[in-house]
Amino acid sequence: MRAILVANPKGGSGKTTVATNLAAGLAAAQEQVYLWDIDRQKSALTWLSIRPDHLPRVARLDGGDPKDRDSTDRSWVVIDTPAGLHGKNLEHALRLADKVIIPVQPSVFDMAATRDFLDALLSGQVHHGRRLTAGVVGVRVDPRTRAAATLEAFLKQYDLPILAYLRDTVLYTNAAFLGQSVFDLPRYLAERDAEQWKPVIDWVRGGR
Ligand SMILES: Nc1ncnc2c1ncn2[C@@H]1O[C@H](COP(=O)(O)OP(=O)(O)OP(=O)(O)O)[C@@H](O)[C@H]1O
Ligand SMILES: [Mg+2]
Repeated sequence: MRAILVANPKGGSGKTTVATNLAAGLAAAQEQVYLWDIDRQKSALTWLSIRPDHLPRVARLDGGDPKDRDSTDRSWVVIDTPAGLHGKNLEHALRLADKVIIPVQPSVFDMAATRDFLDALLSGQVHHGRRLTAGVVGVRVDPRTRAAATLEAFLKQYDLPILAYLRDTVLYTNAAFLGQSVFDLPRYLAERDAEQWKPVIDWVRGGR
């Protein structure tokens, strides 16, 4: 079992949206996938509880250590984390993860609130030097804008790849109401969004 942790202590940065869409995107790509919600608000589990049965299956995981599973287990677990995750809880969460996805919105407030987290993550403080593969997903970003350029400049100092930019669209909110993702919506509505996710799915599935 391979674990993808979706984390950013900044509230509302897009963690649950990224976690649920990633899980659904992997499921749509014929992968076996679990969702593990370690946020007490349980937004990701709410999404899962209303997800229609006819859609590509995302299963629920409630605990344990993904690394304890059989090493031949090729399934995925996507872990949604709470706002404010830091210290020992962050350390523990990182210990579970093979890869970390950090959703970041291109506002000055979001970048400032993400700074300490990135500093801690990349200095090895919180994962004790264990090799960690991390990437950023820009949330509500149009890549042609000044906001995107500012985000890129901000991330340059961290040497973190920007895996994708997800545009600002109400489709994410509408899909979430129905336990769906952009991968489950009609193509004419969300083809562009599914396309924006492609490099994220490839990065996740790529060799470690
Ligand atoms: N690309 C997007 N376009 C439009 N709205 C979005 C997009 N991504 C996320 N949102 C919306 O932004 C809000 C916050 O997103 P989300 O709940 O995923 O953040 P979060 O980091 O999980 O929040 P919390 O820290 O409270 O857990 C939600 O209403 C969500 O629907
Ligand atoms: Mg959330």
